[in-house]
Amino acid sequence: MATLTAGSGNLLAKLDQATFDAKFNRRPFTIGHDLSDHPLFSLPRLIELSQRLPERKVEYNSGELPVSQDPHSTPRNGLSIADTIRRIEECRSWMVLKNVELDQEYGDLLNSCLAEVRQFSDHVSPGMKHQAGFIFISSPGSVTPYHIDPENNFLLQIRGQKFVYMFPQHDREILTEENLEAFFTGAHRNLPFEEWYNARSEKFELNPGDGLHFPVAAPHWVQNGPEVSISFSITFQTKDSADRKSLHRLNKQLRKFGLRPSNVGASPWRDRAKLAVVNGIRAAKAAVGKHDDK
Ligand SMILES: [Fe+2]
Repeated sequence: MATLTAGSGNLLAKLDQATFDAKFNRRPFTIGHDLSDHPLFSLPRLIELSQRLPERKVEYNSGELPVSQDPHSTPRNGLSIADTIRRIEECRSWMVLKNVELDQEYGDLLNSCLAEVRQFSDHVSPGMKHQAGFIFISSPGSVTPYHIDPENNFLLQIRGQKFVYMFPQHDREILTEENLEAFFTGAHRNLPFEEWYNARSEKFELNPGDGLHFPVAAPHWVQNGPEVSISFSITFQTKDSADRKSLHRLNKQLRKFGLRPSNVGASPWRDRAKLAVVNGIRAAKAAVGKHDDK
């Protein structure tokens, strides 16, 4: 059984095939990494990166948010991007630098990390694609509200401490098919949160050197510890995750026509039949020269 260990020249550690086979894109699990002292994650280098990235790739706001945050009323912090990073210790803010692979050095690091993940993920979910990296920079005590994300993700804690509250990917009492359909057709990632959900969460404490796998669309919210936090999120799609997105989108269309489609994942043969429809529509669009956004 393949196992990577720290100190053997690898960037990631504590990866093993049995864990991937049992949990990848189904349940969260922890890994390790050797990036905590990497120079690309120093604040001066991150300020430089934030200035090179297109402005639309930098999202930031106040970090003093409730767990349940309406995305249309998220408060700003009144600072520039560079000042937010420069003053991150005291400005009570949350920031994400998106698609850092647009920058060569960060892209190389992302690809090196994901090449290690792929040695294990391909066995259970082949076809890694759409690799993307995100760097989160946040003030002490910041909260990332309850939300879902569309990618397979490994969050690598570089500096400071985070507490991640992760909820089951398939619990349809707290995350409905309609929630997922809205998200995969363009709705904001934030979701309404109710206190009783907390009893169904699993809490993970992440310190520098720790990493955590987030299954696609597993709801979560995050609380920073008492220091500045920097995290590197390495994400990708696989054929399975792309198919799942297509199925949710198709189900939304079917629901619009008054139908009651089967839940994604509930019936493999129904999912296969629906994917055949999706692929047929794509082929027809391609034949007449229309683009599809996969
Ligand atoms: Fe997230």
